[in-house]
Amino acid sequence: MSFLELRGVGKAFGPPGARHEVLRAVRLSVERGEFVAIVGPSGAGKTTLVSLLAGLERPDAGVVRVAGRPVERPGRDRGVVFQTYALLPWLSVVENVALAVGSAFPDWPAERRRAQVERYVALVGLSAARDKRPAALSGGMRQRVALARALAMEPEVLLLDEPLGALDALTRATMQTELARIWSAERRTVVMVTNDVDEAILLADRIVPLGAGPGATLGAPIAVPLDRPRERKALLVDPGARSVRAAVVRALSSGRARTREVA
Ligand SMILES: Nc1ncnc2c1ncn2[C@@H]1O[C@H](COP(=O)(O)OP(=O)(O)OP(=O)(O)O)[C@@H](O)[C@H]1O
Ligand SMILES: [Mg+2]
Repeated sequence: MSFLELRGVGKAFGPPGARHEVLRAVRLSVERGEFVAIVGPSGAGKTTLVSLLAGLERPDAGVVRVAGRPVERPGRDRGVVFQTYALLPWLSVVENVALAVGSAFPDWPAERRRAQVERYVALVGLSAARDKRPAALSGGMRQRVALARALAMEPEVLLLDEPLGALDALTRATMQTELARIWSAERRTVVMVTNDVDEAILLADRIVPLGAGPGATLGAPIAVPLDRPRERKALLVDPGARSVRAAVVRALSSGRARTREVA
């Protein structure tokens, strides 16, 4: 059994008689320590998929399992970064991160917790803005606070829903490099939604296309057989990266990705 599994997962929204089917027969297996990227068009159901893995939504059909247990509610084993950053508006940057660290590591001495907060605030480049509240931050800065908060809790699984979507190109590149470094150093299991195929190629072990809805389903995963560390510039001309890029684009443009056995 894989570390993270979706089996025959279906999800619809709306009242009886006017149900809008978003996901159908979704099947995915992710191994412990693996980095999987999910790419798909807007409205396909990517955030819904992340919510199911996070335990914020329950599937209508099928089962979602993490570490052998069905996911029934949010848990500290799964850290989530959503598209909308969901920060507490009355707390500063450090306070937002400190709250998460405090809940994840209640037994740590205050000094160790403080060091953890500072480390991750620095990691996302927000030390200078550490005492600002979310209202005084740009969208990209808020996104980085959300990322710092999730990383600082050291969850077994990181669920990232377009975590870099609001960043300018330069900051995005820096954060991609940081994510790659953190993943290599700490080997968390990561499921990341992204709309950027090159970002997926830079970071992921496998890329899974999600077809357009309604009733979207995951296509066959595309392996990214490239050595790490990966260099953004080199990937632009690397023949392996080019063939992965072509396969992803083909999968996404062939209309609805076909249902395939993924396990
Ligand atoms: N709680 C909800 N209630 C009703 N409909 C919902 C709900 N959540 C999502 N949907 C619908 O499900 C579909 C998929 O939404 P979702 O947010 O998962 O897409 P997405 O792939 O993340 O899109 P984007 O790339 O724009 O973020 C949309 O049609 C959306 O309106
Ligand atoms: Mg979304």
